[in-house]
Amino acid sequence: MRISAIVGVLFGIGQYSLFSFLGTTRAQIIPGDYTGPLRPQVHFSPPQFFMNDPNGCFLDSNGTWHLYYQYNPTDITPGNQHWGHATSKDLYHWENQPIAIFPPDNTSQVFTGSAVIDVNNTSGFFPDQDNGIVAIYTLNTPTKEIQAISFSRDGGFTFTAFDGNPIIDSTTMSFRDPKVIQFQGSWVMVVAFSADLVVAIYTSPDLKTWTHASNFTHADIGELFECPNLVEIPIDGSDETKFILSISTNPGPNKGTTMKYLVGDFNGTHFIPDPTDNVVRVVDAIKDSYAGQYFYGLPDNEAVFIAWATNGDYASDLPTASEGWRSSQTLPRRNSLTNVSGQGWDLVSSPFDLSPVTGPALANATEVVNNSMSIDYSDVSSNALYFEADITGLTSTASGGLLNFTFSSPTSGESLSGVYQLSNNTFNLDRNNTRGFDNTAFEDPSSFDVSVSPDADGNLSVAAVIDRSIIEVFLNGGKLSGTALFYPTEPLRIFSVSTEAMPPDAKVTVGVWALNSVWV
Ligand code: FRU
Repeated sequence: MRISAIVGVLFGIGQYSLFSFLGTTRAQIIPGDYTGPLRPQVHFSPPQFFMNDPNGCFLDSNGTWHLYYQYNPTDITPGNQHWGHATSKDLYHWENQPIAIFPPDNTSQVFTGSAVIDVNNTSGFFPDQDNGIVAIYTLNTPTKEIQAISFSRDGGFTFTAFDGNPIIDSTTMSFRDPKVIQFQGSWVMVVAFSADLVVAIYTSPDLKTWTHASNFTHADIGELFECPNLVEIPIDGSDETKFILSISTNPGPNKGTTMKYLVGDFNGTHFIPDPTDNVVRVVDAIKDSYAGQYFYGLPDNEAVFIAWATNGDYASDLPTASEGWRSSQTLPRRNSLTNVSGQGWDLVSSPFDLSPVTGPALANATEVVNNSMSIDYSDVSSNALYFEADITGLTSTASGGLLNFTFSSPTSGESLSGVYQLSNNTFNLDRNNTRGFDNTAFEDPSSFDVSVSPDADGNLSVAAVIDRSIIEVFLNGGKLSGTALFYPTEPLRIFSVSTEAMPPDAKVTVGVWALNSVWV
Protein backbone atom coordinates (compact mmCIF):
# COMPACT_ATOMS: atom_id res chain seq x y z
CA MET A 1 0.00 0.00 0.00
CA ARG A 2 2.83 2.32 0.78
CA ILE A 3 4.18 2.34 -2.80
CA SER A 4 0.77 3.04 -4.26
CA ALA A 5 0.22 5.86 -1.77
CA ILE A 6 3.52 7.45 -2.82
CA VAL A 7 2.70 7.05 -6.52
CA GLY A 8 -0.73 8.56 -5.87
CA VAL A 9 0.73 11.57 -4.07
CA LEU A 10 3.45 12.12 -6.67
CA PHE A 11 1.16 12.04 -9.64
CA GLY A 12 -2.22 12.64 -8.04
CA ILE A 13 -3.96 11.15 -11.02
CA GLY A 14 -5.88 8.05 -12.02
CA GLN A 15 -4.24 4.86 -13.20
CA TYR A 16 -5.03 5.32 -16.88
CA SER A 17 -3.26 8.63 -17.31
CA LEU A 18 -0.49 7.41 -15.01
CA PHE A 19 0.13 4.50 -17.35
CA SER A 20 0.27 6.65 -20.46
CA PHE A 21 2.50 9.12 -18.68
CA LEU A 22 4.98 6.39 -17.84
CA GLY A 23 4.71 4.95 -21.32
CA THR A 24 3.81 1.49 -20.12
CA THR A 25 0.67 -0.43 -19.36
CA ARG A 26 2.43 -3.03 -17.21
CA ALA A 27 4.03 -3.24 -13.81
CA GLN A 28 2.35 -0.23 -12.23
CA ILE A 29 0.46 -0.45 -8.97
CA ILE A 30 -2.76 1.50 -9.19
CA PRO A 31 -2.99 3.97 -6.31
CA GLY A 32 -5.95 3.75 -3.94
CA ASP A 33 -7.51 6.05 -1.36
CA TYR A 34 -9.17 3.88 1.26
CA THR A 35 -10.46 6.66 3.52
CA GLY A 36 -14.01 7.12 2.16
CA PRO A 37 -16.75 6.68 4.79
CA LEU A 38 -18.32 3.80 2.83
CA ARG A 39 -14.99 2.06 2.07
CA PRO A 40 -14.68 -1.26 3.98
CA GLN A 41 -11.63 -1.46 6.23
CA VAL A 42 -11.22 -5.22 6.76
CA HIS A 43 -12.67 -6.33 3.42
CA PHE A 44 -10.74 -6.22 0.14
CA SER A 45 -11.86 -3.57 -2.35
CA PRO A 46 -9.98 -2.44 -5.47
CA PRO A 47 -7.73 0.62 -5.33
CA GLN A 48 -9.96 2.39 -7.87
CA PHE A 49 -12.74 1.66 -10.36
CA PHE A 50 -14.88 -1.45 -10.83
CA MET A 51 -14.23 -4.93 -9.46
CA ASN A 52 -16.35 -8.05 -9.75
CA ASP A 53 -15.67 -11.79 -9.33
CA PRO A 54 -12.69 -13.18 -7.41
CA ASN A 55 -10.45 -15.03 -9.89
CA GLY A 56 -7.42 -17.31 -9.77
CA CYS A 57 -7.39 -17.61 -5.96
CA PHE A 58 -4.46 -19.69 -4.70
CA LEU A 59 -2.12 -20.11 -1.74
CA ASP A 60 1.55 -20.38 -2.73
CA SER A 61 4.18 -22.51 -1.02
CA ASN A 62 5.57 -19.45 0.84
CA GLY A 63 2.23 -18.88 2.56
CA THR A 64 1.20 -15.96 0.35
CA TRP A 65 -2.45 -15.81 -0.65
CA HIS A 66 -3.10 -14.56 -4.18
CA LEU A 67 -6.40 -12.94 -5.08
CA TYR A 68 -7.04 -11.91 -8.68
CA TYR A 69 -10.28 -10.26 -9.59
CA GLN A 70 -12.40 -9.18 -12.54
CA TYR A 71 -11.34 -5.61 -13.00
CA ASN A 72 -12.14 -2.66 -15.22
CA PRO A 73 -9.14 -0.36 -14.63
CA THR A 74 -10.63 2.48 -16.66
CA ASP A 75 -14.19 2.87 -15.42
CA ILE A 76 -16.53 2.54 -12.47
CA THR A 77 -18.86 0.14 -14.32
CA PRO A 78 -18.10 -3.29 -15.84
CA GLY A 79 -16.37 -3.60 -19.24
CA ASN A 80 -12.75 -3.75 -20.42
CA GLN A 81 -12.20 -6.75 -18.12
CA HIS A 82 -8.66 -7.51 -16.87
CA TRP A 83 -7.37 -9.56 -13.93
CA GLY A 84 -6.46 -7.25 -11.06
CA HIS A 85 -4.20 -8.76 -8.40
CA ALA A 86 -3.53 -8.49 -4.68
CA THR A 87 -1.48 -10.59 -2.25
CA SER A 88 -1.73 -11.21 1.48
CA LYS A 89 -0.09 -13.19 4.26
CA ASP A 90 -3.27 -13.40 6.34
CA LEU A 91 -6.20 -12.88 3.93
CA TYR A 92 -6.95 -9.44 5.47
CA HIS A 93 -3.89 -7.23 4.94
CA TRP A 94 -3.82 -7.05 1.13
CA GLU A 95 -1.08 -5.51 -0.91
CA ASN A 96 -2.28 -4.24 -4.26
CA GLN A 97 -0.19 -5.58 -7.14
CA PRO A 98 0.04 -4.53 -10.80
CA ILE A 99 -2.66 -5.88 -13.09
CA ALA A 100 -1.76 -9.51 -13.81
CA ILE A 101 -3.60 -10.43 -17.02
CA PHE A 102 -4.44 -8.06 -19.88
CA PRO A 103 -6.77 -8.70 -22.85
CA PRO A 104 -4.85 -10.00 -25.89
CA ASP A 105 -6.42 -7.44 -28.25
CA ASN A 106 -8.81 -4.48 -28.32
CA THR A 107 -11.95 -6.53 -28.83
CA SER A 108 -11.51 -9.28 -26.22
CA GLN A 109 -11.98 -9.23 -22.48
CA VAL A 110 -10.38 -11.49 -19.89
CA PHE A 111 -13.30 -13.00 -17.99
CA THR A 112 -13.42 -15.13 -14.86
CA GLY A 113 -11.17 -18.12 -14.31
CA SER A 114 -8.87 -19.89 -11.89
CA ALA A 115 -5.19 -20.60 -11.24
CA VAL A 116 -3.21 -23.68 -10.30
CA ILE A 117 0.36 -24.41 -9.26
CA ASP A 118 1.97 -26.76 -11.80
CA VAL A 119 4.43 -28.31 -9.33
CA ASN A 120 5.38 -31.19 -11.63
CA ASN A 121 5.61 -29.12 -14.82
CA THR A 122 2.86 -31.10 -16.54
CA SER A 123 2.39 -28.15 -18.90
CA GLY A 124 6.05 -27.98 -19.94
CA PHE A 125 6.08 -24.22 -19.24
CA PHE A 126 8.32 -24.62 -16.21
CA PRO A 127 11.47 -26.66 -16.92
CA ASP A 128 13.44 -25.21 -13.99
CA GLN A 129 10.94 -24.62 -11.23
CA ASP A 130 8.21 -26.19 -9.11
CA ASN A 131 6.25 -23.00 -8.44
CA GLY A 132 4.95 -22.24 -11.93
CA ILE A 133 1.44 -20.81 -12.06
CA VAL A 134 -1.07 -21.45 -14.83
CA ALA A 135 -4.15 -19.24 -15.08
CA ILE A 136 -7.13 -20.70 -16.91
CA TYR A 137 -9.79 -18.15 -17.94
CA THR A 138 -12.44 -17.20 -20.43
CA LEU A 139 -11.74 -14.87 -23.33
CA ASN A 140 -14.91 -13.01 -24.12
CA THR A 141 -14.62 -12.12 -27.84
CA PRO A 142 -17.22 -10.39 -30.05
CA THR A 143 -18.43 -13.72 -31.44
CA LYS A 144 -17.76 -16.41 -28.82
CA GLU A 145 -16.51 -17.23 -25.35
CA ILE A 146 -13.46 -19.49 -25.38
CA GLN A 147 -11.11 -20.87 -22.73
CA ALA A 148 -7.47 -19.77 -22.67
CA ILE A 149 -4.41 -20.10 -20.43
CA SER A 150 -1.47 -17.92 -19.45
CA PHE A 151 1.57 -18.98 -17.45
CA SER A 152 3.66 -17.22 -14.84
CA ARG A 153 7.27 -18.05 -14.02
CA ASP A 154 7.52 -15.44 -11.26
CA GLY A 155 5.01 -16.90 -8.83
CA GLY A 156 1.88 -15.26 -10.21
CA PHE A 157 2.87 -11.62 -10.71
CA THR A 158 3.34 -11.47 -14.49
CA PHE A 159 1.80 -13.80 -17.06
CA THR A 160 2.48 -14.79 -20.68
CA ALA A 161 -0.35 -16.03 -22.88
CA PHE A 162 0.06 -19.57 -24.27
CA ASP A 163 0.63 -19.37 -28.02
CA GLY A 164 -1.71 -22.34 -28.57
CA ASN A 165 -4.79 -20.56 -27.17
CA PRO A 166 -7.68 -21.23 -27.12
CA ILE A 167 -7.37 -24.45 -25.17
CA ILE A 168 -11.13 -25.03 -25.61
CA ASP A 169 -12.83 -23.32 -28.55
CA SER A 170 -16.55 -22.77 -28.88
CA THR A 171 -19.28 -21.32 -31.07
CA THR A 172 -21.31 -19.79 -28.23
CA MET A 173 -21.33 -16.54 -26.26
CA SER A 174 -22.30 -18.40 -23.10
CA PHE A 175 -19.38 -20.69 -22.20
CA ARG A 176 -17.36 -19.35 -19.30
CA ASP A 177 -15.66 -19.35 -15.92
CA PRO A 178 -13.32 -22.39 -15.86
CA LYS A 179 -12.32 -23.55 -12.37
CA VAL A 180 -9.53 -26.13 -12.34
CA ILE A 181 -8.51 -28.52 -9.56
CA GLN A 182 -6.18 -31.49 -9.48
CA PHE A 183 -7.74 -34.90 -8.80
CA GLN A 184 -5.79 -38.16 -8.66
CA GLY A 185 -3.05 -36.89 -10.94
CA SER A 186 -5.34 -35.35 -13.54
CA TRP A 187 -6.44 -31.75 -14.06
CA VAL A 188 -10.19 -31.32 -13.83
CA MET A 189 -12.11 -28.28 -15.06
CA VAL A 190 -15.69 -27.29 -14.33
CA VAL A 191 -16.97 -24.62 -16.72
CA ALA A 192 -20.46 -23.21 -17.30
CA PHE A 193 -22.57 -23.30 -20.42
CA SER A 194 -24.37 -20.40 -18.81
CA ALA A 195 -27.53 -20.12 -20.88
CA ASP A 196 -27.89 -23.91 -21.33
CA LEU A 197 -27.86 -24.34 -17.54
CA VAL A 198 -25.09 -26.93 -17.75
CA VAL A 199 -21.80 -27.36 -15.92
CA ALA A 200 -19.38 -29.24 -18.17
CA ILE A 201 -16.48 -31.24 -16.73
CA TYR A 202 -13.28 -31.57 -18.78
CA THR A 203 -10.06 -33.39 -17.89
CA SER A 204 -6.46 -32.81 -18.99
CA PRO A 205 -2.99 -34.27 -18.41
CA ASP A 206 -1.14 -30.99 -19.14
CA LEU A 207 -3.55 -28.01 -18.86
CA LYS A 208 -3.28 -27.54 -22.65
CA THR A 209 -5.32 -30.39 -24.13
CA TRP A 210 -8.75 -30.96 -22.65
CA THR A 211 -11.26 -33.79 -23.07
CA HIS A 212 -14.96 -33.39 -22.35
CA ALA A 213 -15.91 -35.86 -19.59
CA SER A 214 -19.50 -35.12 -18.55
CA ASN A 215 -22.29 -32.57 -18.23
CA PHE A 216 -24.20 -31.79 -15.05
CA THR A 217 -27.48 -30.02 -14.53
CA HIS A 218 -30.22 -29.90 -11.93
CA ALA A 219 -33.71 -28.49 -12.25
CA ASP A 220 -33.68 -26.55 -8.98
CA ILE A 221 -30.67 -24.29 -9.51
CA GLY A 222 -31.83 -21.25 -11.47
CA GLU A 223 -32.03 -19.39 -14.74
CA LEU A 224 -28.31 -18.78 -15.28
CA PHE A 225 -25.18 -20.81 -14.51
CA GLU A 226 -21.92 -18.94 -13.81
CA CYS A 227 -18.68 -19.46 -11.89
CA PRO A 228 -18.94 -23.17 -10.97
CA ASN A 229 -16.58 -24.61 -8.34
CA LEU A 230 -15.96 -28.31 -7.65
CA VAL A 231 -14.26 -28.58 -4.30
CA GLU A 232 -13.56 -31.08 -1.54
CA ILE A 233 -14.90 -29.86 1.79
CA PRO A 234 -13.97 -31.28 5.20
CA ILE A 235 -16.73 -32.81 7.29
CA ASP A 236 -16.89 -31.39 10.82
CA GLY A 237 -15.58 -33.70 13.52
CA SER A 238 -14.11 -36.28 11.14
CA ASP A 239 -11.20 -36.79 8.75
CA GLU A 240 -13.59 -37.27 5.89
CA THR A 241 -14.51 -34.98 3.06
CA LYS A 242 -17.25 -34.66 0.50
CA PHE A 243 -17.33 -32.72 -2.75
CA ILE A 244 -19.62 -29.82 -3.37
CA LEU A 245 -20.50 -28.34 -6.73
CA SER A 246 -21.34 -24.65 -6.33
CA ILE A 247 -22.96 -22.58 -9.06
CA SER A 248 -23.65 -18.86 -9.17
CA THR A 249 -27.16 -18.30 -10.41
CA ASN A 250 -30.32 -16.24 -10.40
CA PRO A 251 -32.69 -15.87 -8.58
CA GLY A 252 -31.59 -16.06 -4.98
CA PRO A 253 -33.65 -16.27 -1.79
CA ASN A 254 -34.11 -12.49 -1.75
CA LYS A 255 -34.22 -11.82 -5.53
CA GLY A 256 -31.35 -11.19 -7.90
CA THR A 257 -28.19 -13.26 -7.92
CA THR A 258 -26.95 -15.86 -5.45
CA MET A 259 -24.70 -18.89 -5.13
CA LYS A 260 -26.12 -22.40 -4.65
CA TYR A 261 -24.54 -25.79 -4.01
CA LEU A 262 -25.09 -29.52 -4.03
CA VAL A 263 -23.20 -32.04 -1.92
CA GLY A 264 -21.97 -35.29 -3.41
CA ASP A 265 -19.00 -37.27 -4.69
CA PHE A 266 -16.63 -36.95 -7.62
CA ASN A 267 -15.23 -39.97 -9.46
CA GLY A 268 -12.77 -38.24 -11.79
CA THR A 269 -15.27 -37.57 -14.56
CA HIS A 270 -18.72 -37.07 -12.99
CA PHE A 271 -20.14 -35.17 -10.05
CA ILE A 272 -22.73 -37.39 -8.36
CA PRO A 273 -25.09 -35.66 -5.92
CA ASP A 274 -25.58 -37.48 -2.63
CA PRO A 275 -28.38 -39.96 -3.44
CA THR A 276 -30.04 -39.42 -0.06
CA ASP A 277 -29.70 -35.65 -0.14
CA ASN A 278 -29.99 -34.42 -3.72
CA VAL A 279 -30.99 -30.95 -2.54
CA VAL A 280 -29.95 -27.53 -3.83
CA ARG A 281 -29.10 -25.08 -1.02
CA VAL A 282 -27.89 -21.48 -0.92
CA VAL A 283 -24.36 -20.59 0.15
CA ASP A 284 -25.39 -17.20 1.58
CA ALA A 285 -28.81 -16.69 3.15
CA ILE A 286 -29.12 -12.94 2.53
CA LYS A 287 -28.54 -11.07 -0.73
CA ASP A 288 -25.02 -9.83 -1.39
CA SER A 289 -22.68 -12.70 -2.19
CA TYR A 290 -22.02 -13.96 -5.71
CA ALA A 291 -19.45 -15.62 -7.98
CA GLY A 292 -17.51 -17.05 -5.03
CA GLN A 293 -14.31 -18.99 -5.53
CA TYR A 294 -12.38 -21.53 -3.43
CA PHE A 295 -8.62 -21.07 -3.05
CA TYR A 296 -6.37 -23.61 -4.76
CA GLY A 297 -3.31 -25.08 -3.03
CA LEU A 298 -4.60 -25.47 0.52
CA PRO A 299 -3.49 -28.28 2.79
CA ASP A 300 -5.85 -31.27 2.99
CA ASN A 301 -9.01 -30.73 4.90
CA GLU A 302 -9.15 -26.99 4.41
CA ALA A 303 -11.56 -25.09 2.24
CA VAL A 304 -11.37 -21.31 2.08
CA PHE A 305 -13.67 -19.24 -0.01
CA ILE A 306 -14.21 -15.60 -0.98
CA ALA A 307 -17.01 -14.04 -3.03
CA TRP A 308 -17.99 -10.82 -4.78
CA ALA A 309 -20.03 -9.01 -2.14
CA THR A 310 -22.96 -7.67 -4.11
CA ASN A 311 -26.01 -8.59 -6.13
CA GLY A 312 -26.15 -8.52 -9.95
CA ASP A 313 -29.39 -6.52 -9.78
CA TYR A 314 -27.60 -3.39 -8.56
CA ALA A 315 -23.84 -4.09 -8.62
CA SER A 316 -23.19 -1.41 -11.24
CA ASP A 317 -25.16 1.25 -9.35
CA LEU A 318 -23.72 1.05 -5.83
CA PRO A 319 -23.38 4.58 -4.41
CA THR A 320 -19.61 4.50 -3.94
CA ALA A 321 -18.64 6.09 -7.27
CA SER A 322 -17.93 9.39 -5.52
CA GLU A 323 -15.26 7.54 -3.51
CA GLY A 324 -13.74 6.23 -6.78
CA TRP A 325 -14.35 2.48 -6.30
CA ARG A 326 -17.15 -0.03 -6.66
CA SER A 327 -17.55 -3.45 -4.94
CA SER A 328 -15.70 -5.33 -2.26
CA GLN A 329 -15.12 -9.02 -1.73
CA THR A 330 -16.69 -10.85 1.22
CA LEU A 331 -14.59 -11.80 4.21
CA PRO A 332 -12.48 -14.87 3.56
CA ARG A 333 -14.54 -17.77 4.84
CA ARG A 334 -13.52 -21.14 6.19
CA ASN A 335 -15.95 -23.83 5.06
CA SER A 336 -16.89 -27.25 6.38
CA LEU A 337 -19.87 -29.56 6.12
CA THR A 338 -22.07 -30.69 8.97
CA ASN A 339 -24.97 -33.01 9.28
CA VAL A 340 -26.07 -32.28 12.84
CA SER A 341 -29.46 -30.86 12.04
CA GLY A 342 -30.42 -34.28 10.73
CA GLN A 343 -31.79 -32.51 7.69
CA GLY A 344 -28.94 -33.29 5.35
CA TRP A 345 -25.65 -31.59 4.59
CA ASP A 346 -25.18 -27.97 5.55
CA LEU A 347 -22.24 -25.82 4.56
CA VAL A 348 -20.72 -24.11 7.59
CA SER A 349 -19.13 -20.78 6.68
CA SER A 350 -17.29 -18.69 9.26
CA PRO A 351 -14.76 -15.86 9.01
CA PHE A 352 -11.18 -16.99 8.44
CA ASP A 353 -9.11 -16.30 11.60
CA LEU A 354 -9.95 -12.67 12.43
CA SER A 355 -7.10 -12.24 14.91
CA PRO A 356 -4.87 -10.23 12.49
CA VAL A 357 -7.50 -7.48 12.49
CA THR A 358 -8.97 -7.85 15.97
CA GLY A 359 -8.49 -4.78 18.12
CA PRO A 360 -9.45 -3.97 21.71
CA ALA A 361 -12.51 -5.54 23.35
CA LEU A 362 -15.24 -2.96 23.90
CA ALA A 363 -17.26 -5.49 25.89
CA ASN A 364 -16.37 -9.00 26.93
CA ALA A 365 -18.74 -11.61 28.33
CA THR A 366 -21.18 -8.88 29.33
CA GLU A 367 -24.44 -10.42 30.59
CA VAL A 368 -27.50 -9.13 28.80
CA VAL A 369 -30.49 -11.12 30.06
CA ASN A 370 -33.74 -9.17 29.81
CA ASN A 371 -31.57 -6.12 29.74
CA SER A 372 -29.70 -3.97 27.25
CA MET A 373 -26.28 -2.52 26.65
CA SER A 374 -25.05 0.18 24.33
CA ILE A 375 -21.58 1.12 23.06
CA ASP A 376 -20.59 4.35 21.40
CA TYR A 377 -17.81 3.30 18.99
CA SER A 378 -17.24 6.74 17.43
CA ASP A 379 -13.58 6.58 18.40
CA VAL A 380 -12.98 3.27 16.59
CA SER A 381 -11.28 4.84 13.58
CA SER A 382 -12.00 1.91 11.24
CA ASN A 383 -15.72 2.17 12.10
CA ALA A 384 -15.62 -1.66 11.92
CA LEU A 385 -16.65 -4.09 14.69
CA TYR A 386 -17.04 -7.78 15.41
CA PHE A 387 -19.66 -8.85 17.93
CA GLU A 388 -20.91 -12.13 19.22
CA ALA A 389 -23.96 -12.85 21.40
CA ASP A 390 -24.05 -16.34 22.90
CA ILE A 391 -27.30 -17.60 24.34
CA THR A 392 -27.41 -20.81 26.39
CA GLY A 393 -30.21 -22.57 28.26
CA LEU A 394 -32.78 -22.42 25.46
CA THR A 395 -34.17 -25.80 26.37
CA SER A 396 -37.75 -24.80 27.11
CA THR A 397 -39.97 -24.31 24.09
CA ALA A 398 -42.66 -21.76 23.22
CA SER A 399 -40.79 -18.78 24.54
CA GLY A 400 -41.61 -15.35 23.18
CA GLY A 401 -38.06 -14.14 23.84
CA LEU A 402 -36.18 -11.77 21.58
CA LEU A 403 -32.58 -10.76 20.99
CA ASN A 404 -32.23 -7.40 19.25
CA PHE A 405 -29.17 -5.58 17.98
CA THR A 406 -28.90 -2.19 16.31
CA PHE A 407 -26.12 -0.13 14.77
CA SER A 408 -27.25 3.47 14.54
CA SER A 409 -26.26 7.02 13.78
CA PRO A 410 -27.33 9.50 16.47
CA THR A 411 -27.09 12.37 14.00
CA SER A 412 -28.98 11.04 10.96
CA GLY A 413 -31.26 8.65 12.88
CA GLU A 414 -30.36 5.82 10.47
CA SER A 415 -29.95 2.25 11.69
CA LEU A 416 -29.25 -1.32 10.69
CA SER A 417 -30.90 -3.88 12.93
CA GLY A 418 -31.18 -7.58 13.60
CA VAL A 419 -33.61 -9.55 15.71
CA TYR A 420 -33.76 -13.20 16.67
CA GLN A 421 -37.21 -14.41 17.73
CA LEU A 422 -37.29 -17.51 19.87
CA SER A 423 -40.99 -18.10 19.27
CA ASN A 424 -40.48 -19.03 15.62
CA ASN A 425 -36.70 -19.50 15.41
CA THR A 426 -36.40 -16.70 12.89
CA PHE A 427 -33.62 -14.19 12.45
CA ASN A 428 -34.34 -10.95 10.62
CA LEU A 429 -31.85 -8.39 9.32
CA ASP A 430 -33.26 -5.03 8.25
CA ARG A 431 -31.38 -2.39 6.25
CA ASN A 432 -34.44 -0.26 5.42
CA ASN A 433 -33.46 2.54 7.75
CA THR A 434 -30.22 3.39 5.92
CA ARG A 435 -30.82 5.97 3.24
CA GLY A 436 -27.66 6.39 1.15
CA PHE A 437 -28.75 4.27 -1.83
CA ASP A 438 -32.02 4.94 -3.59
CA ASN A 439 -32.49 1.89 -5.81
CA THR A 440 -35.61 -0.20 -6.32
CA ALA A 441 -33.84 -3.57 -6.62
CA PHE A 442 -31.72 -2.79 -3.54
CA GLU A 443 -34.86 -2.05 -1.57
CA ASP A 444 -36.87 -5.06 -2.75
CA PRO A 445 -36.45 -6.69 -0.36
CA SER A 446 -34.19 -5.07 2.18
CA SER A 447 -35.48 -6.92 5.20
CA PHE A 448 -34.35 -10.52 5.30
CA ASP A 449 -35.77 -13.46 7.26
CA VAL A 450 -33.85 -16.67 7.84
CA SER A 451 -34.82 -19.73 9.89
CA VAL A 452 -32.34 -20.99 12.43
CA SER A 453 -32.88 -23.03 15.60
CA PRO A 454 -30.87 -23.40 18.79
CA ASP A 455 -28.73 -26.53 18.75
CA ALA A 456 -29.77 -29.69 20.59
CA ASP A 457 -28.12 -28.42 23.80
CA GLY A 458 -30.14 -25.19 23.76
CA ASN A 459 -27.33 -22.91 22.54
CA LEU A 460 -27.64 -20.20 19.93
CA SER A 461 -25.09 -17.68 18.76
CA VAL A 462 -25.51 -14.52 16.71
CA ALA A 463 -22.28 -12.92 15.46
CA ALA A 464 -21.47 -10.30 12.85
CA VAL A 465 -18.71 -8.28 11.27
CA ILE A 466 -19.85 -4.78 10.40
CA ASP A 467 -17.52 -2.77 8.17
CA ARG A 468 -18.82 0.69 7.16
CA SER A 469 -21.14 -0.44 4.34
CA ILE A 470 -21.18 -4.25 4.62
CA ILE A 471 -22.35 -6.62 7.32
CA GLU A 472 -21.77 -10.36 7.43
CA VAL A 473 -23.87 -12.30 9.91
CA PHE A 474 -22.92 -15.72 11.31
CA LEU A 475 -25.57 -17.70 13.18
CA ASN A 476 -24.66 -20.77 15.23
CA GLY A 477 -20.97 -20.61 14.35
CA GLY A 478 -21.65 -20.12 10.64
CA LYS A 479 -24.19 -22.92 10.14
CA LEU A 480 -26.13 -20.10 8.61
CA SER A 481 -24.44 -17.02 7.24
CA GLY A 482 -25.44 -14.02 5.19
CA THR A 483 -23.96 -10.90 3.62
CA ALA A 484 -25.74 -7.58 3.23
CA LEU A 485 -24.62 -4.20 1.91
CA PHE A 486 -26.06 -1.05 3.47
CA TYR A 487 -25.35 2.61 2.77
CA PRO A 488 -25.87 5.12 5.58
CA THR A 489 -25.56 8.84 4.84
CA GLU A 490 -23.59 9.17 8.09
CA PRO A 491 -21.40 6.53 9.74
CA LEU A 492 -23.25 4.22 12.13
CA ARG A 493 -21.54 4.50 15.51
CA ILE A 494 -23.79 3.33 18.34
CA PHE A 495 -24.09 -0.42 18.88
CA SER A 496 -26.92 -1.63 21.11
CA VAL A 497 -28.00 -5.10 22.05
CA SER A 498 -30.90 -6.16 24.20
CA THR A 499 -32.88 -9.25 25.09
CA GLU A 500 -36.37 -9.57 26.47
CA ALA A 501 -38.70 -12.32 27.72
CA MET A 502 -35.85 -14.83 27.83
CA PRO A 503 -36.78 -18.29 29.15
CA PRO A 504 -35.92 -18.78 32.86
CA ASP A 505 -32.69 -20.78 32.34
CA ALA A 506 -31.33 -18.61 29.55
CA LYS A 507 -27.97 -16.86 29.83
CA VAL A 508 -26.81 -14.30 27.29
CA THR A 509 -23.27 -12.98 27.05
CA VAL A 510 -22.07 -10.42 24.55
CA GLY A 511 -18.56 -9.61 23.35
CA VAL A 512 -17.72 -6.67 21.09
CA TRP A 513 -14.32 -5.99 19.52
CA ALA A 514 -13.02 -3.08 17.48
CA LEU A 515 -11.50 -4.21 14.18
CA ASN A 516 -8.31 -2.55 12.99
CA SER A 517 -8.20 -1.11 9.50
CA VAL A 518 -5.94 -3.00 7.10
CA TRP A 519 -5.53 0.04 4.87
CA VAL A 520 -3.76 2.48 7.21
C1 FRU B 1 -20.08 -13.23 -13.11
C2 FRU B 1 -19.58 -12.96 -14.53
C3 FRU B 1 -18.87 -14.17 -15.11
C4 FRU B 1 -17.98 -13.54 -16.13
C5 FRU B 1 -17.57 -12.27 -15.47
C6 FRU B 1 -17.34 -11.12 -16.40
O1 FRU B 1 -20.25 -12.06 -12.38
O2 FRU B 1 -20.66 -12.58 -15.36
O3 FRU B 1 -19.74 -15.15 -15.62
O4 FRU B 1 -16.88 -14.35 -16.45
O5 FRU B 1 -18.60 -11.94 -14.56
O6 FRU B 1 -16.83 -10.01 -15.73
